[in-house]
Parts: sequence; structure tokens; C-alpha cells
Amino acid sequence: PTEKGWVASHLHQYQGFWHNTRQLQGVLTCQNHFQAQDPDVLLVTTPKSGTTWLKAIVFALMNRVQYPNPENHPLLAENPHVLVPFLELGLYIDSQVADLTTFTSPRLFGTHLPINSLPDSVKNSACKLVYLCRNPKDTFVSLWHFTNKLRINNMGDNSLEETFDKFSRGVSLCGPFWDHVLGYWKESLEKPQRVLFLKYEEIKEQPKAQLMRLAQFLGRPFTPEEETSGAVDGILKLCSFDNLSNLEVNKTRKLSSGEDCKAFFRRGEVGDAKNHLTPHMMEKLDQITEEKLHGFGLTF
Ligand code: A3P
Repeated sequence: PTEKGWVASHLHQYQGFWHNTRQLQGVLTCQNHFQAQDPDVLLVTTPKSGTTWLKAIVFALMNRVQYPNPENHPLLAENPHVLVPFLELGLYIDSQVADLTTFTSPRLFGTHLPINSLPDSVKNSACKLVYLCRNPKDTFVSLWHFTNKLRINNMGDNSLEETFDKFSRGVSLCGPFWDHVLGYWKESLEKPQRVLFLKYEEIKEQPKAQLMRLAQFLGRPFTPEEETSGAVDGILKLCSFDNLSNLEVNKTRKLSSGEDCKAFFRRGEVGDAKNHLTPHMMEKLDQITEEKLHGFGLTF
């Protein structure tokens, strides 16, 4: 099925989830060609759940021995989406087959792929998956702003109300949102060594604890010396919204896929949805969330 949607093209339903034309081609190419390796780390997110933040944090965490100095760090010169590229939205965009020979192990990649659409090589390898999501109200509002900011949809159907209606029906990029989240939630319960399930709100609330959890999961725990020397705080400061959003690179540059880097930084707060959605819309998303996730032990 095809539905008129955002990001300059129609949304197409593939394996139960919605993708725009350009992304769908990337999904197919990635499914056919990406060869996962056991040490790989995949950062899997729903769009607008804090992907940019997660990429920065994991890049800094995994490369902290190589780049111990926060004043001379690659994150100051490159956008996190350049340092940790997307599979289906970057490396395998359209029908282009990526050359991954220059990547050093452990390779870090980002993806929005739903769990059932991951390439077979990912399913058959021991690579780790870090999953990040965010409460559906803030996710929707962030998504709506992002699409308006990019101004790639001039088809006149991106009013808040209409986009909300579609999101509620599951028709959004990589939606249904709830199915995406639930797929990885179940996998994280079944295979906790393989999938770490994170929420944006939890990282906001307890950044240090979540970063240490992440480090432990990735087999790179912080040593007591690192903890006392401020390494954990250093990474959080380097990757903070204020720091990243004010860097020249993120204010001025474009990604090779065409987006302005600054489009990935808006407010970076929890609860902004209430400033944009009516009480009825807020209730509706709460109700769908309750219906869809009830009984699985997952709440937002
Ligand atoms: P808002 O639109 O609510 O501000 P993604 O990276 O998945 O595209 O998600 C973008 C959202 O994450 C935006 O949310 C953006 O402001 C927020 N964000 C980007 N960098 C962040 C950071 N370092 N810390 C916290 N939030 C961040």
C-alpha cells in the first residue's frame, strides 16, 4: 500500500512499516548487501527519538582511548551522523552499495529499521543493538517540526492535524511507532545481552547512570579511575544539546543526504508536546499507547 505522506514522496508500506520512496530503496539495498560483523554495534532508533545524541554518546564512549581530549575531538568537527552513518539513509541510500572497507572495527552504524526488516546478516551475527525511543507525544511533535523545517514536503498535507491523524493510525516514517518500539522491547527482554533498550527520557533524567549502563553493555565499562577523573561527565558534556547545537559544524553544514545539520537540534527537552498538541491529542496518544503496550510491561 501507498499513502501520500511527508518527505517529498509517498510513504510505502513494506514488511508492515511505512517508508518513503528514497528510504525504501535504501532498505532494500541494505537488506541485500549489508554484511554485519560480530563486533559491529547498531544504533537503532525511531525517527526523532534522539538518534543524533545517541550517536554522539556512543561514538565518544567507544573511542575514548583514541580521543581522550575533549578539546580536540572529532565531534567538534563533524556532525554525529557523519561519524556514525545511517545504513538505509546514508550508506545504502538509493541503490548505491556502500564501500565499508575503510571502517575500523568495531564499526558503528545507525538505522531506523524495524526489527523484522533487519538484514539477515544482522540477525545471524552476534553484533549488538542499542535501541533508543522516546515518548510518542514528543516524538510526534519533533517529527512534525523536522519535516516542516526541512521543507521537503510541498504537497500541502503536512498540517499538524492531518499529520497527527496519520501518526495515530501508524502512518509515519518507520511507523507504526508502537510496533517499532514493541518489536525491540520484546527482543531486549528475550536477549538482554544483544539488545539494550533505552528511552530518551531516562537518559535525560539519569545521564550518568545510563551512560555507564551503555558502557557496560558494550563491553567498555568505565574503570574506577575513569569515573573519578571525570571521564563520564566529560562525555556527557561533550555530547550535550548545548554543546553540540552550538558548534559551527552543526550550525552551518549540510549532510551529504541533503539535510541541514541544524535541523537535528531544536529544543532537546522532555514534555514539549504539551506546547503544541491539544489536550485531546495528548489524551489520544496516551490512549493508543495504553492500548498497544498494555500487558508488555512497557510504559512512557
Ligand atoms: P526536539 O525536536 O524535541 O527538540 P533525532 O536525532 O532522532 O533526529 O532526534 C532529534 C531530537 O533530539 C530533537 O528533539 C533534538 O532537539 C533532540 N536532540 C538532538 N541532540 C540532542 C542532545 N545532544 N541532547 C538532547 N536532545 C537532543
